Amino acid sequence: MKLKDLYIDFFVSKGHKQIPSAPVVPENDPSVLFNTAGMQPLIPFLMGGRHPYGNRLCDYQKCIRTNDLEEVGDSTHHTFFEQLGNWSLGDYFKQEAIEWSFEFITEVLHMPIERLAVTVYGGSETIHSDEESYNKWLSLGIPETRIAKTIDDNFWIAGESGPCGPDTEMFYFRSDDEIPEAFDPEDDRWVEFWNDVFMEFYKDSEGNISELPKKNVDTGMGVERTVAILEGVDDNYKSSIWKEVIDLIASISGLSYEGNERSMRIIADHVRTAVFISADPTGIKPSNTDQGYILRRLIRRAIRHAKKLGIDVESEFLSEIAKVIINQYKDYYEELVQNEQVVYDCLHDEKERFNKTLEHGLKEFERVVKKGEDIDGENAFHLYDTYGFPIELTMELAEERGLKVDIEGFNEKFRAHQELSRTASSGKFKGGLAGNSEIETKYHTATHLLNAALKIVVGPDVHQKGSNITVERMRFDFSSDHKLSDEEKKQVEELVNGWIKEGLEVSVSEMSKESAIKSGAECMFIEKYPDVVTVYSIGNVSRELCGGPHVKNTSELGTFRIKKEEASSAGVRRIKAVLE
Ligand code: ALA
Repeated sequence: MKLKDLYIDFFVSKGHKQIPSAPVVPENDPSVLFNTAGMQPLIPFLMGGRHPYGNRLCDYQKCIRTNDLEEVGDSTHHTFFEQLGNWSLGDYFKQEAIEWSFEFITEVLHMPIERLAVTVYGGSETIHSDEESYNKWLSLGIPETRIAKTIDDNFWIAGESGPCGPDTEMFYFRSDDEIPEAFDPEDDRWVEFWNDVFMEFYKDSEGNISELPKKNVDTGMGVERTVAILEGVDDNYKSSIWKEVIDLIASISGLSYEGNERSMRIIADHVRTAVFISADPTGIKPSNTDQGYILRRLIRRAIRHAKKLGIDVESEFLSEIAKVIINQYKDYYEELVQNEQVVYDCLHDEKERFNKTLEHGLKEFERVVKKGEDIDGENAFHLYDTYGFPIELTMELAEERGLKVDIEGFNEKFRAHQELSRTASSGKFKGGLAGNSEIETKYHTATHLLNAALKIVVGPDVHQKGSNITVERMRFDFSSDHKLSDEEKKQVEELVNGWIKEGLEVSVSEMSKESAIKSGAECMFIEKYPDVVTVYSIGNVSRELCGGPHVKNTSELGTFRIKKEEASSAGVRRIKAVLE
C-alpha cells in the first residue's frame, strides 16, 4: 500500500475526515503564487472559521515551492511535493498529536525507534518552552539524548504573518554510519520528515503575536522524503517515486543516471511540476507573469538540460515524460486525467516557442561571454527579453563558465518592464503568506459584488476565472466573448456602488453542496468542494461558495472604480479595480 493511503487510513481511523487536495494555485489567497504547505487552504479555519467537514481533518496536498529553484538538481530538493497532513481545529492538541505521530511512524511505517529523534520548542522571552511535548516524547520512549530543544527552528509560520506556533519535528537517521548517541539537528544524516505545529498564535504584519480563538494542530509530512527513508535510499530521486521517470530520461538520452544526476533530476522535477501546474483547474498557461512565468521557467530549464544531455529537443520528449507522471498520479488527482491533453499541448507549445529562440540565444550568450567577462544586467535582460532566457538559465550557463551575472542590474531592468515584472517585484516568488488585511477583506467582498454586476450587465453566462487581490487593487478574470464597452463598465460601477450605498448585510451559512448549487450559488470549481459548503450571501445580490473572509456590511467598502479592462486569454477578460 502506498504511503498516502496508509496515512489517510490511519487518520481516518482516528476520527479524521479526508478532505480533497485543493488546487495548487490558491483560490482565496493572492499573497502566494502556489500553495506551499497543506495548511494554506485551511487558513480561514485555523483562524477560527468552522470547517464544513468538522474539526479533525486529513489530506494529501499538492504543494509547490519555487524560492529555491536553483537548488533543484541535488538529491533532496523538489519544486513540487506532496504533503500529508492531519489537523485539529480546536479539538485535540499536543498529547494526541504526538501520540498518533509516534504510533504511525513506529507501528504503521515500522521505523525503528533507535533511528528516531525529535526537536521541540525551547522557549523565548514571550512564549515558554514546550515542556508538554518534551515530556510526551519521553513517555513514549524517545530518550533524552534524542530530544533537542531549539528556538528558531521550532516555531512555524508560513511566510511573515498568519496563524503560527511552536512545533515539534521528527527526524530519521538516514545513513549507514553508526548512529551517534546524541542527536544533533544540524547533522544532515538526520533527515527531518514530519512536523507537528501547535497553532495557537497569530502573528500580524507588524510582528505582534496574539492568541488564536482555538488551539489547533497542523502537521506536515513530506511524501518524497519519507518514501526515500522507507526505501533506504540516500538520494530521493532513487526512490520508487522517481524510478520510472529517471529510467525514461536515461533511455531517451542513451545515458546513465550516474554521472548525469543533476540534469536528469532537473528534467524529472521540472516536468513533474509543469504537469501539475498546467493540469490545475485554474488553467495556468506559460506566460511572463505570475504562475505562468514559473511554468515557463520550469519548462525552459528542463529543455536546456535535455539539450545538455544530447536529447533531441525538437522531439516530444517532454510529453513522453509527462505521460509517465500522469499515469503514476492519476488515481489520486483526477484533474490529470481530465486535463491530460491540456498538459501535452502546453508542453508542446512552449517547447516550440522556446526552440525558436534557444539556438540564437545560445549563440548570443557565446558572443556575450567571448571576452570572458561577467554578464552585466543589460545583456542578461537582453537574453531574457529577446531570446526568452529566464534569469536562472543565464546564471546557470554563466556558472558553467565560471562567470557571474549582475542580478541587481537585471532586476532593475526587469522591474522597469512594469507589467512583466509584477510578480517578481512584489516578492511573491518567495512563497510567503500575508494575513488578510482589512483592505484585502474589503476587496474580497467587492469581488463578489463585481461578479454579480457582470452577470447582470454582460450576461448570466459570465463566470469567474480567477482573482487576485493586493492591498492596492483587485483583479478579476471572467469569461466574456467581448471587450466591455464604456457604457457596460459604467453600468457595472453604478451597480456595485449602488449596492455599497444600500448597506447590504453579508451573511454566511453552511448547506449541502447540492442545495447550494440549487440555490444558484456561484463558485469556480464545484468538484473541489466537500458535500457541505460555506456560502456567503450579500443581501439578495450575490451568493457564492467561499471560504471568506468578508466585511459584515457593504457600506464598509467605499467607492468602487474600474481602472482597466483588458484581454487576459482567449475568451477571458480581466478587470482591475480599486476601492477609494
Ligand atoms: N505547516 C507545517 C509545515 O509545512 C506542518 O511544516
